[in-house]
Amino acid sequence: MKKTDFAKKLLAWFDTHGRKHLPWQINPTPYRVWVSEIMLQQTQVATVISYYLRFMDAFPTVADLAAASVDDVLGFWSGLGYYARGRHLHKAAQIIMDKHNGNFPLDFDAVVALPGIGRSTAGAILAFSTEQRHAILDGNVKRILCRHEAFEAPPNTAQAHDALWAIADKYTPNERISEYTQAVMDLGATLCTRTKPRCTDCPIQTSCQAKKFNRVSELPTKIKKAPKPTKARLFLIIQTEKGIALYQRPSKGIWGGLWSLPEWPDARKNHKEIQDYCASLQTVRETNKPIYLEALPPVQHQFTHYQLILKPMIFQTKSLKKNILFEDKPIFWCTPNHLHTLGLPAPIKKLLQQQFVTGRIAWKKLSIA
Ligand code: ADE
Repeated sequence: MKKTDFAKKLLAWFDTHGRKHLPWQINPTPYRVWVSEIMLQQTQVATVISYYLRFMDAFPTVADLAAASVDDVLGFWSGLGYYARGRHLHKAAQIIMDKHNGNFPLDFDAVVALPGIGRSTAGAILAFSTEQRHAILDGNVKRILCRHEAFEAPPNTAQAHDALWAIADKYTPNERISEYTQAVMDLGATLCTRTKPRCTDCPIQTSCQAKKFNRVSELPTKIKKAPKPTKARLFLIIQTEKGIALYQRPSKGIWGGLWSLPEWPDARKNHKEIQDYCASLQTVRETNKPIYLEALPPVQHQFTHYQLILKPMIFQTKSLKKNILFEDKPIFWCTPNHLHTLGLPAPIKKLLQQQFVTGRIAWKKLSIA
């Protein structure tokens, strides 16, 4: 199919069906578009909108974002997941202040060099904010192209990637770049969906090879994935009048830089370790009395590569030592007021909310031994 026909059909469809009033489409400066594209990388439009508006209120410019603490930034990210996005955004804002005089760079290579921005996101930011001609190839676009071309290889292999980029580039028009970019995104999000695509409403159905050969449900070809492994971990809720004990996780890895509950792998030997830890927190070692803990029902949380089963346990004592640590990090006492300002992983926030609502839990005999 000719590039101009593909783009023409998409643009005509966009004129009547495309999304044109999303918050980041109003005054689409590179900064505003950048923040939206990062939030939209793993999260749907409907969820992003309220986070985006709050974030923009708090950090209206690159300078505001760069000057904020990473904690503040992650506080606004809480609930969106994939927190590395928030940390990269903050880091990139500081680089923009240092290297680019506070102006978001408009040169593709400089944009793609910033943390958290890959080739497709860089293309989208520049297309939306400056009408520069760049192709995009996010998950939705891969699906559209694999179907339209009846592309056989699974799209996420290196070879397929190069071929798909070439096709994406071929179809990208020279004019109305921003609208074309939004149009392919919208087509993937609304009609050419993974399940139940609405081919009869699709503007490029007559040239779609998958439709022609009745192969829409087979394409893109899926790589058979091994089932996700499961990890169970014990999370300790240490309750005092001052609040619930949290520590800040190291910046690398899962929930990097976020505030979380002290945790251990769910192994038998760790039950003893947790009891010893709890005992070590008390001012008076009540050696002849058991330490009281209560296990709460487990909670499941999906990560990209594994499923986490959180097993919360509550610990209460009358007298705690001062300046207690977990993994050499100082404990912070979280109260209900902190829930909306601290960067907290979503399942931890939910657990804390429940605890604050239920209040102090009755003492129960140790139930994990
Ligand atoms: N996903 C990524 N970018 C998007 C945008 N600008 N509009 C809708 N969905 C998107």
